[in-house]
Formats: sequence, structure tokens, C-alpha cells
Amino acid sequence: MCENLACRAAAGGRRASAPRDTDPDDRGDDGVIMLQPVTVEDYRELARQRLPHWLFEYIDAGAIREETLAANTADFQRLRLRQRVMRDVSQVTTATTLFGQDLALPLVLGPVGFAGMFARRGEVPAARAAARAGLPFCLSSVSICGIEEVAQAAPPPWFQLYMIKDRAYMKTLLGRAARLGCPVLVFTVDLPVPSRRYRNIHSGMGLWGLRRKVVLGAAALKRPRWLWEVMLRGRPHAFGNFAEGIPEARTLEGFDVWVEKNYEPCLDWDTLAWVREQWRGPMVIKGILDPDDARLAVQAGADGILVSNHGGRQLDGTCSSIAALPAVVDAVGARVPVLLDGGIRSGVDILKALALGARACVVGRAWAWGLAGRGERGVAAVIDTLERELATTMALAGCTDVGRLDRSVLLE
Ligand SMILES: Cc1cc2nc3c(=O)[nH]c(=O)nc-3n(C[C@H](O)[C@H](O)[C@H](O)COP(=O)(O)O)c2cc1C
Repeated sequence: MCENLACRAAAGGRRASAPRDTDPDDRGDDGVIMLQPVTVEDYRELARQRLPHWLFEYIDAGAIREETLAANTADFQRLRLRQRVMRDVSQVTTATTLFGQDLALPLVLGPVGFAGMFARRGEVPAARAAARAGLPFCLSSVSICGIEEVAQAAPPPWFQLYMIKDRAYMKTLLGRAARLGCPVLVFTVDLPVPSRRYRNIHSGMGLWGLRRKVVLGAAALKRPRWLWEVMLRGRPHAFGNFAEGIPEARTLEGFDVWVEKNYEPCLDWDTLAWVREQWRGPMVIKGILDPDDARLAVQAGADGILVSNHGGRQLDGTCSSIAALPAVVDAVGARVPVLLDGGIRSGVDILKALALGARACVVGRAWAWGLAGRGERGVAAVIDTLERELATTMALAGCTDVGRLDRSVLLE
């Protein structure tokens, strides 16, 4: 018999499990109590209860008709695992290494912009929870807390880069990340222009910025805890990585206009070569779906590929990440690690992605919901749930080592 706890212990037993108690603090602002938040979806629900509507929608939304957003999760559900029995699964290991780092499981907390608004100075508690769980945290370039603030409170994060036109500023930013010891650069290439996310517009948030009347207006007043913790105690609300040299980044209102003007729509392979020259450490290219692009990225010096459609937030109508994964793995998997994000909501999803050749998975919304729901404890609980689900699912599928998974884990 290998129940959840036994598998968890066999997977390393590194740390006590995250607290699962009921907390009087779990009363949402509308008075509803979540008794036992456990699953990623439970934390989504807690986030809905805790955040003003426009901010919940900012995390949740996808682009245009949200077809790709829906495909990201639906396509995982279409894959089926083989149940294999009568194998010794008394020792299940989820531990792995990636870019020279030891990971407790093949999982990275991916870049999520604006996370400092989901909880007080939100990137810091998230980075701490990741470090405690033995996982990397990747800081978005459009975070509220700057790299310095995060690196002071936790191990230096991976750093995600969006390309802006001001190359001198880019150089300074990359220099800051390197000086602080950020071990991996994640260069996002699927946002040459921001897509249209209608739920954000409906709920009062523009493409990037937000209107003061919405933040302080009726919607936010229904969330007094968020107003107190984040809006009042969580100041200053600037974009920490840009505030130093770009005055528009010192307030939330001016930044979206600046972004519209300064994001680099002319992203091409020469741009990638330029970034490669600036960054000596491992560089992962994020936002690849096509095997030809994966080959070109590796040719241009990528050390890793992150198969991603930005969580269904950019090109609507394209395929899910999990559907794109096998061809990218076939194209470049023998040369560089291929990672995947988009639609990961459980450890079962992680196992399916690993079976199709991903070296690790990256989550966005899952940890963002944990953070919004319960701060650092919420992120820790989401990671713990994903780890337990992965270890249990591996055992029931007759697998004992994440390093030895392949397509035979899946039904044809
Ligand atoms: C609220 C939110 C903000 C995001 N911000 C960024 C960002 O700043 N940079 C980036 O490269 N990707 C960003 N992403 C995309 C995520 O890194 C990741 O690709 C995506 O969330 C994966 O899908 P999932 O949410 O289904 O896990 C963001 C995603 C969300 C949900």
C-alpha cells in the first residue's frame, strides 16, 4: 500500500507538510469560509474571495475568445495514464537537477507580473515559499518588488526579461540581475505586442495599467483586507525593476502608457543574439510553440526552451502547450532541456508533461492563486499539493523516478 503520506515520505520527507488547518482568517470578505483549501482550484476560489474583482480577473483571464486558455487545461485531460501494478513503489523520488540546481521536484514558479498586488509585497513571500520547498522562483521583469528586494529576502531568483526599446536600460537591468546572482535568465518572446484580454477591460483594468477609480472604488471597498494589507501596508506600488531609471514606472497609472510606447515589437533573432551577448549564464527562451522556432532559438544560443503560450494570454486560437510539446522535444530535446507551462493544475498534469519529454514544468496561475488566497502559506500549500499529487500519481502508475519517465507512461 502506498498512500499519500507514505509516498510523500519516500519522496524525500524533507520538510513537514504545509499547514492544512482551518483558519479563522479564511473567512472571505463576503463571509464565506473555505474549510479545507487543498487543491489548486480551492486556492483559485480563495483568491476570488480575497481579491477585488478586477484583480482576480487579471490573473484568470485569457486573450480574445479564450480558446487557447481553455485548450491548455482540456488537452491535459484528454491524455490518459497507464495504470501499472505489482511494482515496488516504496521509494518514489521527485528530485531532479536543472541548470546545475537541485530541485525537490521538476517545478518552477514562473514569472507573474504585478504579483506584488496579490498579497503585501507579494513577490517576496512567493520567493520564500519556493526556496523553502527547494524550487526556483522566477521574478517577472514587471514585478512590484525589484530584484534587489527579492534577493535580499530569498535566494536570488531566476529573472524574466521583456524586451524594451531602450537597450541601455536593458543592459543595466541585466547587469543588476547578474550582479545579484540570478542564476537563470528567462527571455520571453511571445509578447511583441500585448494581446487583447476582454475580461480585463470589462472589469476596469486596461491592458497593463489600471484606473485609480477602480482600485479605490466600490469593487475594492468590498475587499477591506486587501485594501489594508496591499494598498496601504504594501506601498510603494511601483514597478521595482524599472522605477530607478524610468519615472513612469514609479506609479501604476503611468506605466501602461510607457509600456505601449517602449515594448519592442521588432523582436527578432538578432535581438536574441544581442541578449545572448549580454548574459553569460543559462538563458531559457520562453514562449516557443513551433519546432522550427525551437531550433532557431537553440541556434541563437538558448540553453533551454520553455514551451508556452503565455497561459493563453497572448495568441488566441493557437494550440495548447501540451499539444505543442512533443514536436519541440523531438526537435531540440536532445540538445537542451525543454520546459513546459500552461494549464498545470495538478501533479497529474506534471506527470503527463514529463512523460511527453518536459524536463520540468512551470506554473503561473497556480502559485498566484495560492499567494492571493493565503500569502506565503498559500504558495507553500499549493506546492505541497502538487508534490504530493505527483508522487502519488507516479506510484499508482508504477513509476519511481522522475528522471526515468517516458511516453510509455501514457495510454496510446
Ligand atoms: C497574472 C499573470 C501574469 C503574468 N505575467 C507574466 C510576465 O510578467 N512575464 C512572463 O513571461 N509571463 C507572464 N505570465 C505568463 C506565465 O509566466 C505563464 O506562462 C503562464 O501563467 C502559464 O500558464 P498557467 O497560468 O496556466 O500556469 C503571466 C501569467 C499570469 C496568469
